[in-house]
Amino acid sequence: MELLNDSLKQIFTQAFCDAGYNDDVSVNECAIEKFGDFQCQTPLLLAKKYHKAPISIANDVVAHLPKNRIITNVTVANPGYINFFIDENYLANYLQEYMQFIEKPREKTNKKVLIDYGGANCAKPLHVGHLRSADIGESIKRIMSFEGDNCIGDVHLGDWGLQMGMVIYAVWEKNPNLVYFDENYQGEYPKEPPFDMEELKVMYPNISQRAKQDEQLYEKVKHITFELQNGRRGYVALWKHIISVSKKLIKEDYDKLNAHFDLWLGESDSKKYTDEVIDYVINGGYSRVSDGATIVDVSQDDDKAEIPPFMLLNSAGSVLYSTTELATIVQREKEFDVDEIVYVVDNRQELHFVQVFRCARKIGILKKDIDLKFVGFGTMNGKDGKPYKTRDGKAMGLDDLLEMVKAKAYEKVSASKTNYSSKEIENISNVVAISALKFADLCVLRTKDLSFDVDKFCSFEGKTGPYILYTITRANSILNKVEKDVTSFSLSKEDRKLALCLVKFLDAVKTAYDKFAPSYVCDYAYTLANEFNTFYAKSSIMYEQDETKKHSKIILTKYTQKMLKKCMDLLAINTLEKM
Ligand code: ARG
Repeated sequence: MELLNDSLKQIFTQAFCDAGYNDDVSVNECAIEKFGDFQCQTPLLLAKKYHKAPISIANDVVAHLPKNRIITNVTVANPGYINFFIDENYLANYLQEYMQFIEKPREKTNKKVLIDYGGANCAKPLHVGHLRSADIGESIKRIMSFEGDNCIGDVHLGDWGLQMGMVIYAVWEKNPNLVYFDENYQGEYPKEPPFDMEELKVMYPNISQRAKQDEQLYEKVKHITFELQNGRRGYVALWKHIISVSKKLIKEDYDKLNAHFDLWLGESDSKKYTDEVIDYVINGGYSRVSDGATIVDVSQDDDKAEIPPFMLLNSAGSVLYSTTELATIVQREKEFDVDEIVYVVDNRQELHFVQVFRCARKIGILKKDIDLKFVGFGTMNGKDGKPYKTRDGKAMGLDDLLEMVKAKAYEKVSASKTNYSSKEIENISNVVAISALKFADLCVLRTKDLSFDVDKFCSFEGKTGPYILYTITRANSILNKVEKDVTSFSLSKEDRKLALCLVKFLDAVKTAYDKFAPSYVCDYAYTLANEFNTFYAKSSIMYEQDETKKHSKIILTKYTQKMLKKCMDLLAINTLEKM
């Protein structure tokens, strides 16, 4: 299908050419609604080149506009704008075709992208930073797939760090006689874990808290972690239990957020490549030893700030977060043959990625020129402008956060839906709560911080998830009251704005795709919802006497409902049929 923007560009390029200006032409939305739907500002840019007043270039071009069915009411405005409207008949046909077009799958790009998002740590509860990664990453994956890329989402669990040593220590402390701790034991280890989910949840926070004050405990934990990473049988067996129990917990949380991963790999899965990577770096002569640690210099002459070296091994010879990161890139190339890796991670980890990406390039370990993209995001802050914390200063857990939002959503829904059963209210408020949290998270520009404001997030007015949900149910309730299978469609003057807004969907998605920024889809959904609500307030669909007008309004309502649902699907936010 030829898109409107392309058709307009073509018409104007031809007109400029015929008028003697062989230049690059652009057409944009008109800034002032009453002057037109679109405008062309190119004459302003050509004045210097042709030593001519922009207005006379504009007049020349208009005189050469080729005959077409698309544009109408062309005017020239000082100092050299060409303003115009889209013909209503054309727009009506175009919109119908457009709505079918967006339902069809996009042409495949042949680009294989791995999206690394989520990043929960085993045995540790999910916190608000993981929420942002899950929300933004899941949406980016959906947007990229919509645009035709072949996407794989990987949760990249933190399953190889110190927290593992802490949990193993906690299990030992509770029962040191367990077979896992007997170094002479040669048999098989039990199939069932020696702890349940609830027990696991408290182990890490408890030990981590104590290890902060207890140097000896901290050293023990480090040693356990070292032994685990070096394959001590009993610890590995226990570690496997920790992973499987905590994966279940983590999955439950991600399911609540509608984040679904294709791969459930973790940092530890790259361990089969770490030796190879370490040998490659050391034998290739890329590293040097500094204070006992093995490092690779990755600074460049044009660096504005200092970029410290990449750490391959610490002074104890252990692998680090950076080492597994590098090994994971190798793994992703070998096992998944990716063209691009997108890391959806907190801005504060940017330096780590700069070091890793530079090191990978410097040592030339990749066979292919894989595009490595750091897609960072800001923090969710509390009222003090600092990353949101609990009263006792810990990172805010996802569960607490969800409870807060659910309570607020419940309060709002139950106040307005007095005729609903408590079960219905409960169900509605759960969906409303998740939409509130996710939309708030997604609607700020990715790189920016946002402040947690439960009242604002849950409001049914303004740029919020509940407002979009409400608009969809409003459209549904109209559609439930009218004859749905209508086909005659034409556009009246008052409805053309909604139609013009509907056909901007693909532009919004494309911008979101180019910038890895789902907020553009949120902006679009909000604008469309507003446009629809204005349309709704102005027209009485049910009582419209003119049959064609009525049918057209029903069709526009259907289209809006479909489009808003499509946006919410790209944002991975569930919607409601009624509320
Ligand atoms: N587990 C890490 C954290 O909680 C995030 C992992 C992000 N992904 C990566 N490839 N490093 O901070």
